[in-house]
Amino acid sequence: MSILQVKHLEKIYEGKVAFKALNDINFSINKGEFVGIMGPSGSGKTTLLNVVATIDKPTSGEILINGKNPHRLSRKETALFRRHELGFVFQYFNLLDTLTVEENIVLPLTLDGVSVRDMEKELETVAEKLGIISILKKRTYEISGGQKQRTAIARAIIHKPSLLLADEPTGNLDSKSSKDVMETFETINERDGATCLMVTHDAVAASYCHRVIFIKDGQFYNEIYRGDNRQAFFQKIIDMLALLGGDNRELSTIRF
Ligand SMILES: Nc1ncnc2c1ncn2[C@@H]1O[C@H](COP(=O)(O)OP(=O)(O)OP(=O)(O)O)[C@@H](O)[C@H]1O
Ligand SMILES: [Mg+2]
Repeated sequence: MSILQVKHLEKIYEGKVAFKALNDINFSINKGEFVGIMGPSGSGKTTLLNVVATIDKPTSGEILINGKNPHRLSRKETALFRRHELGFVFQYFNLLDTLTVEENIVLPLTLDGVSVRDMEKELETVAEKLGIISILKKRTYEISGGQKQRTAIARAIIHKPSLLLADEPTGNLDSKSSKDVMETFETINERDGATCLMVTHDAVAASYCHRVIFIKDGQFYNEIYRGDNRQAFFQKIIDMLALLGGDNRELSTIRF
């Protein structure tokens, strides 16, 4: 069953000079799949993620999430749809630094008026899963980058979204924290069957995915599947990035 379908997606940024950032993108993601998006800087990855996230509107084509097109909803319905069906993880964590870790995590539930008792139950489950029980009372400036990202993941999954979206979730982390965060994604994908779509420059992070889709100049370029050997998949990703060209940032992050 498809959780996400992207059909003939096109995005043109209007401006003094119009720019086609996405050109006829087509793919779908099955329930429980973990898919990576890679491509050179400026190839349209964030644009794609933002359109899927309903943060931005497509120029033409459509996306369906659980068979529904969120871009056809009213503004109020879109906000609800986003809050119920989607979870977001960003490169810069986007945590509120006036709140504690636990207050950040339960924020989506607070907005939905969930009872304190249910909230505490969900908090405990998710904090245990992500190994952050001991830091729940801390403020976000008192924890490490890896802990911040695990807090952000906890917040993104506490309402059990249909689709978890991540834009460069390891972009600001050292290799040890990146590994922790990717293992966290792997666990929630395998244990909870969470469906994930992740944009990344990092070949190691991408090697945790079941499949990586490569885009170039706003167009589909290729896709490769992991199979059961992550090390071999990593090498295939590196080879594909070399073929793709663009900036060399991705090649500087080799660290097994
Ligand atoms: N709001 C905007 N208005 C006009 N052009 C934009 C806008 N946002 C992005 N672009 C252009 O669209 C293209 C795709 O941008 P996008 O941010 O999706 O790239 P990306 O693949 O995420 O790159 P990076 O790896 O550097 O994050 C780029 O050429 C960019 O300059
Ligand atoms: Mg980007």
